[in-house]
Amino acid sequence: MKVIIVKDYQKMSNEAYNFIEELLKEKKDAVLGLATGSSPIGLYKLMVKGYEDGVIDYSKVKTFNLDEYLDLPKEHKQSYYSFMHENLFKGINVLKENINIPKGDGIDHLQDCKMYEELLNKHIIDIQILGIGSNGHIGFNEPGTSFDTTTHLVKLKEKTRLDNQRFFESIDEVPTHAITMGIKSIMKSKKIILLATGKNKAEAIKNMIEGPVDENVPASILQKHDDVVVIIDEQAASLLKK
Ligand code: F6R
Repeated sequence: MKVIIVKDYQKMSNEAYNFIEELLKEKKDAVLGLATGSSPIGLYKLMVKGYEDGVIDYSKVKTFNLDEYLDLPKEHKQSYYSFMHENLFKGINVLKENINIPKGDGIDHLQDCKMYEELLNKHIIDIQILGIGSNGHIGFNEPGTSFDTTTHLVKLKEKTRLDNQRFFESIDEVPTHAITMGIKSIMKSKKIILLATGKNKAEAIKNMIEGPVDENVPASILQKHDDVVVIIDEQAASLLKK
């Protein structure tokens, strides 16, 4: 696991962007695994700028998102579908048919999980972008999730709902369930870049890097992947021993 400690959010975004730019210059038809939330927004801004400046072309790129809230219409402002269109897809030339996001507002959720996993199995993600929950979740794989999971339905922990309340009017509006790519699916990515800033993430970062590999800290499984880059600011790194 390579750990890069930077001064602030912008520097974190720049570092992450360099990896994406390098990949997409080399491999036009790369497959990107994408996350939502606050952590990758700066990276996505740079990815849009890269397109506007003519540095990156996304016309052959495929994307897979990690997760989606359950039973939230995809048109809802806080659906991850809306988030991705607002923060990235509307600003780049990725083709609609190359965008994959778990379907959270379908009728048969189990079937939708199965279909997403089948699609994932036909691809290899070149770079997977991850954030980390303050409880150590990756995707929406909450503490206690088996490391063996593929795409599945989850009940969100109250801590996660509280952390995400900032995007909604009230806690009652925060969905209780989601569909997420499983840990096994995430681990198949060739390279993983995990982003985190702020004191709120310090304990999760410490447990992920220095703690035992334990299903109670889902992100700790990344210790077993051979190409992980963790890019964090000084606050998120503040509890690390080394
Ligand atoms: C989002 C996701 C989550 C977030 C995590 C951190 O698609 O899978 O694991 O990455 O909750 O969220 P932020 O970046 O908002 O702190």
